[in-house]
Amino acid sequence: SQIKIAVVIGSLRKDSLNRKLALALAHLAPSDVTFEHVQIDDLPLYDQDDDAKQAESVRRLKAQIASAQGVLFVTPEYNRSVPGVLKNALDNASRPYGQSAWAGKPAGVIGVSIGPMGTSMAQQHLRNVLAYLDMPTMGQPEAYIQNKEGLFDEKGHVGEASREFLTGWVAKYVAWVKKHSA
Ligand code: FNR
Repeated sequence: SQIKIAVVIGSLRKDSLNRKLALALAHLAPSDVTFEHVQIDDLPLYDQDDDAKQAESVRRLKAQIASAQGVLFVTPEYNRSVPGVLKNALDNASRPYGQSAWAGKPAGVIGVSIGPMGTSMAQQHLRNVLAYLDMPTMGQPEAYIQNKEGLFDEKGHVGEASREFLTGWVAKYVAWVKKHSA
């Protein structure tokens, strides 16, 4: 049966490399998997006073996460951590207390940066948060991607040099989701 994975991208930038990576990864996945990009740019800044009357955009995000079998985080690193927009999405959909959308959803973490560390520090911070949110998160293989010439081909697909590695990464993540989704 069909598997749906919600994709959360940590960059709002139109030409985001991480959005490009997310789109390219979808092409490497088996045909029984669909990827749904969730919108986070219209979420309010999280305010606990709103827990009892969450915004429509927050309820939409929570419903999208609830209906997915897994969550894929594709994020840049900002100042050695995750972008605030991503943390804001995590916080918004984690509340009210006891009604988190994230709990139990198998997660994958990946990202691309312009520097050689390939979002490693952001991913480590994110893993800490996901552990608290009770998301079983794939530990291996890790994927720290640097944007180099040829990472994407002219169609926007993953280029030759990284294709085998990233195809394997996606296959393992999909297997992880199948194993851990309720
Ligand atoms: C960055 N960038 C960056 N890169 C990195 O490897 N480690 C870092 O800590 C940071 N910090 C950082 C902070 C801020 C505010 C910006 C705008 C950028 C560079 C980053 O890798 C680059 O801008 C990517 O292109 C961002 O990802 P998207 O938007 O292309 O997906």
